[in-house]
Amino acid sequence: MESSFFIKKNPNKEMLIEALKYFNANIIANNFPYLMRNDVFDLAEVDAWHEEQVRGKSIRLIGVINKSKVISIAYLCRGHGNGFHVAKLGITVDPEYQRKGVANMICKELLKYGREEGVVRVEAYPVVNNNNAITFLSRLGFLNEGIASKKFRRDETTFYDCIHMARIL
Ligand SMILES: CC(C)(COP(=O)(O)OP(=O)(O)OC[C@H]1O[C@@H](n2cnc3c(N)ncnc32)[C@H](O)[C@@H]1OP(=O)(O)O)[C@@H](O)C(=O)NCCC(=O)NCCS
Repeated sequence: MESSFFIKKNPNKEMLIEALKYFNANIIANNFPYLMRNDVFDLAEVDAWHEEQVRGKSIRLIGVINKSKVISIAYLCRGHGNGFHVAKLGITVDPEYQRKGVANMICKELLKYGREEGVVRVEAYPVVNNNNAITFLSRLGFLNEGIASKKFRRDETTFYDCIHMARIL
């Protein structure tokens, strides 16, 4: 990776706007077909993202190069009540920077923060044919717990089967 690369935990609103722009550029280019979104994010969503971080509902890490160019976003989103020890993991890396170990570095750090903050079980739900993500998660120690039929929907008629993968921290 570039020597200017760094990982930022729970970025401020200014950096979160850069993160939303990163997502939107990749949504427009259809680089993340499994994101289940056709529409770009409204930049006003930055307030909701920031509030989640402040409330401890999510831990978000971004990978940055050249001071402010976001090339990856990863998060743990916690459950509540008797699922408070469980978190869902999400990760994307800009296609230009994939296969350079970015996701590996960021997720290892994210899991460390999760453990420190009491997360015991981490879940991820890759679409059944998202082989890159399935291989990546397996290498990170996630186990296949079975298929969840029609777990996600892209629109009113398009549903996706996903693999329930989980790792105990
Ligand atoms: C899955 C994803 C996050 C991996 O990011 P990455 O930075 O390229 O991953 P890394 O370089 O850290 O790879 C770590 C290991 O994962 C596996 N892996 C990652 N991408 C792979 C690919 N395209 N093909 C096969 N194995 C892959 C490899 O074992 C790799 O180790 P290696 O390069 O030493 O062989 C990236 O492909 C992505 O953003 N995909 C689109 C979004 C997505 O599907 N997210 C997952 C939702 S659950």
